Amino acid sequence: MSDTDDTYEIEPTSFDVPALPGGVNVGADEEDAQERLGRDMLMAAKQAVGARGVFHLAVSGGGTPMPFYRRLMIDPLFREMPWARTHLWIVDERRAPEDSDTNNFKHIHAIVVEHADIPPSHVHPIPVSEEDAADRYEATLRETLALDTPGEEGRLDFVMLGMGPDGHTASLFPHTAALNEETRWVVDNDGPSVVPPPRVTMTYPLINNARSIAFYVLGSGKAEMIHRISTGTEGFETYPCKGIRPVNGELVWYLDRAACGG
Ligand code: 6PG
Repeated sequence: MSDTDDTYEIEPTSFDVPALPGGVNVGADEEDAQERLGRDMLMAAKQAVGARGVFHLAVSGGGTPMPFYRRLMIDPLFREMPWARTHLWIVDERRAPEDSDTNNFKHIHAIVVEHADIPPSHVHPIPVSEEDAADRYEATLRETLALDTPGEEGRLDFVMLGMGPDGHTASLFPHTAALNEETRWVVDNDGPSVVPPPRVTMTYPLINNARSIAFYVLGSGKAEMIHRISTGTEGFETYPCKGIRPVNGELVWYLDRAACGG
């Protein structure tokens, strides 16, 4: 309220919530977005363990989620994460030595696996040093997921995705062969639009069959692509994020205001 009159100054809303497919959950800042995602992930984990005894979580690499994983490990809000009942998968990996900094799982291992009581047999890095890494990973996924839902095609419980500034997600890059995969769950992917090195990635058929899918996208550097995805007419070949459409599950975008242009 000003000193001179009795009008209130209302902070103008400096951003519009983008019209993305699925739910949109906007945090004021990174910390708030972390909390929103963490609470929903914890709820999904508890539900999965209650229903099937285990929680199948697939996470992404890249820079954005690392502070989130750290928070998950140290904030008492998330103390009840049922790590001992969790299978940890990764949505994509780079064809680089497994002990190099380029390897996504190396970072996730250091932040999460070393500090959580996940049984070693529930920790699933992609074996990228093997030529047939994609086949092997798919076989492990099919075998492991089938154990929890006998007689049905297995499903991941929660898939956490990022978005590149070009609209890619996982290692599903614009105009690459992996985008048209209809049956395989994990494939190799490469091409002019792939940021080297070549990748191994989960595909739409596996990701879209998950019970919950979360995009976690932060920062002003992503605002232009968020705007294009929410307003543009181009399809998934141009913006692979648009190919994420749950068959029978939930999709939520966890953003901060900066990613919304605010
Ligand atoms: C990877 C990811 C990739 C990532 C996006 C966003 O392995 O790099 O799975 O899809 O999520 O490129 O990455 P940033 O969070 O670093 O922007």
